[in-house]
Amino acid sequence: MSRIDEIKAAFEAEISSCKRLEGLEEMKVRYLGRKGELTSVLRSLSELPEDERRKAGMEANKLKELMNSGIEEARTRLEMKSRGEKASEMDVTLPGFGPPRGGLHPITKTMGRISEIFVSLGFRIAEGPEVETEFYNFEALNIPLDHPSRDGFDTFYIKGKTLLRSHTSNVQIHIMQKQKPPFQVLMPGRVYRPDAVDATHSFMFHQVEGLMVDTDISFADLKGALTLFCRSMFGEDTRMRFRPSFFPFTEPSAEVDISCFICKGKGCRVCKMSGWLEIMGAGLVDPKVFEAVGYDPGKYTGFAFGMGVERIAMLLYGINDIRLFYENDVRFLRQFI
Ligand code: DAH
Repeated sequence: MSRIDEIKAAFEAEISSCKRLEGLEEMKVRYLGRKGELTSVLRSLSELPEDERRKAGMEANKLKELMNSGIEEARTRLEMKSRGEKASEMDVTLPGFGPPRGGLHPITKTMGRISEIFVSLGFRIAEGPEVETEFYNFEALNIPLDHPSRDGFDTFYIKGKTLLRSHTSNVQIHIMQKQKPPFQVLMPGRVYRPDAVDATHSFMFHQVEGLMVDTDISFADLKGALTLFCRSMFGEDTRMRFRPSFFPFTEPSAEVDISCFICKGKGCRVCKMSGWLEIMGAGLVDPKVFEAVGYDPGKYTGFAFGMGVERIAMLLYGINDIRLFYENDVRFLRQFI
């Protein structure tokens, strides 16, 4: 019995200070191998009288188990250490971290929602170039040479008559040059203006343009399409108002307002106490535009509209600074997933 206690004490001292995996293997052979210390004790048990043999046999077998599990524990500890882990750092019962989930940008979401509604009204989606010529951005749209938007301070000119488009209305011209009416298209995209950046202005923003042309399109068709759009986008109880305005490419032209969906028209901070929110420009296509693309203005009529996506997204989500859209700060973007 005292020999068993000695072996046990020696083993415990040695195992707790063992620092190398190879050392463990050597210990296993030395204590538990065929010629091992404990093995020789077990073998000599037969020389003992019956009752002592039983007691010593039980103790020796207990020690054998203790040694086996001690060696396995030490092996786990040394393997973790070789991988740079600490026992306290590994809790295998903790749930894992999933990969972070992404989502669409609020501008993409807003453009998607606008497109979805017009597609349901039979519109087709089309895109046009962001680098454009003066012809498509201005001339064909009946914008005169002395119009302020043609000034170098109001448009990014690249070289000569090449520029970054200042609106998506250029796509109207590309579409009409390529096909004959009837058609109805929705044209989303980026536009550029050299505006000083502040809470409501950016040198780049997004617009969605609409165009429908046939032989008998009237202002009633424009109102009908926009009414369905506004109710679906901003709520069924939304009211609309058309204010007379001017755009060179439409005649007559209008600014379209919707009743404020925050205060329901009573007047609040967002609608500046007016009860109305301006959301787009619209009108009937000017005959001069049809002439520029070779359509017979006596035969065709159409409507067009253009809206700013950032402005609509800001109203819908209650965002007070346009710069938040472009900073890529996940603390902002996460809210829209
Ligand atoms: N292009 C105009 C702008 O950027 C918006 C616009 C107004 C587009 C009226 C249209 C329209 O198609 O009919 O300010």
